Amino acid sequence: MNMKIKVNTNFSKLKESYLFSEIGKRERAYRAANPEKKIIKLGIGDVTLPLCEAVTTAMHNAVDEMASKATFRGYAPEYGYDFLRVAIASYYKNKLGVSLSADEIYVSDGAKSDVGNIPDIFGDNTVLIPDPVYPVYLDSNTMAGRRIEFLDGNKENGFLPTPDGLKGEGYIIYICSPNNPTGAVYTREGLKEWIDFAVKSGSLIIFDSAYEAYIKGDYPHSIFELEGARSCAIEISSFSKIAGFTGTRCAWTIIPDELESDGKLIGKLWKRRQATKFNGVPYVVQRGAEAALSDTGLAQVMESVKYYTDNAAVLAKLLSDKGIFYTGGTSSPYVWLECRNSMKSWDFFDFLLETANIVGTPGAGFGSNGEGFFRLSSFGSRESTLEAVERLNKLL
Ligand code: MLT
Repeated sequence: MNMKIKVNTNFSKLKESYLFSEIGKRERAYRAANPEKKIIKLGIGDVTLPLCEAVTTAMHNAVDEMASKATFRGYAPEYGYDFLRVAIASYYKNKLGVSLSADEIYVSDGAKSDVGNIPDIFGDNTVLIPDPVYPVYLDSNTMAGRRIEFLDGNKENGFLPTPDGLKGEGYIIYICSPNNPTGAVYTREGLKEWIDFAVKSGSLIIFDSAYEAYIKGDYPHSIFELEGARSCAIEISSFSKIAGFTGTRCAWTIIPDELESDGKLIGKLWKRRQATKFNGVPYVVQRGAEAALSDTGLAQVMESVKYYTDNAAVLAKLLSDKGIFYTGGTSSPYVWLECRNSMKSWDFFDFLLETANIVGTPGAGFGSNGEGFFRLSSFGSRESTLEAVERLNKLL
């Protein structure tokens, strides 16, 4: 059939395939051609430790509730069950000293979905995207046909771009701290500069704090720890990396009640968008997420976070010993290193896959400033991380 419909031509501006799909494709091809090789996966940031006991107990109990007519539940509320919204608000209050009302918290099935969906509620603004950074910011705004400008992250600024020199107004600005992929973390002063700029220029910051649990030291975990953020920021975060929910799916977005632009409350627009296009996160999952934030749950999930950060420290130590430039590895599950002998990122990817049977992530996949860099993830087992270090030690 010769269809006559028009497709979204913005899709032709995207890279042929999504970064992690391309990595998976290359890995599968190599595996098929070399079935005897033991490949170590340090590519996509996917957790490997199981859900903690507090979470699985809560989920088992919730499954039992679903099995009884008296306690069965159908559609979940679009913005999350109150018990989970209250638990997230308490986490912010007790752990981060941030006061939020539970109504400002919108539960969803993933930070990736929220990051990808939030452009729905904005008009034709210029978007500022750090380079390098998580590719979903760029892809989702490209699909929407927005004008995009890049904020250069590089060795000189420690991969933490500043607003210096920006003259325009009404920007949508993405900030990810601790950063994916570089692991760089904004200080309070660094993040405050962005808030001051956003307030002065009438811009909005979309702050991605998916990796906040990995922070060590006095860095802001939430943008709402800083004065002025309530009038210019949205925060998106997730249970994936703190509680091992990459396959379980649960996240949240915070939109301050008073945040408004163009005479419209931003939270109201998001509510409207979610009510139409989203049907809530399963009850069982939300009970598990609630349990992850209980005192017992937090103690258990933070053991896994420590396991991964210890892996990251092992990777970082190798690079320090070898005198290779890197960032991350401390307040982040990622280590971001300069490729050997000025190799290009994808060449380095092939080199590591073929000579050490290690899969990592080419920096160029996170933006043009990532060219010549490479990301290693610490989400594998201790054994495989140590084995990777041994292989890299011989090679680098
Ligand atoms: C990554 O590897 O960058 C992350 O796993 C991607 C994600 O969280 O969607």
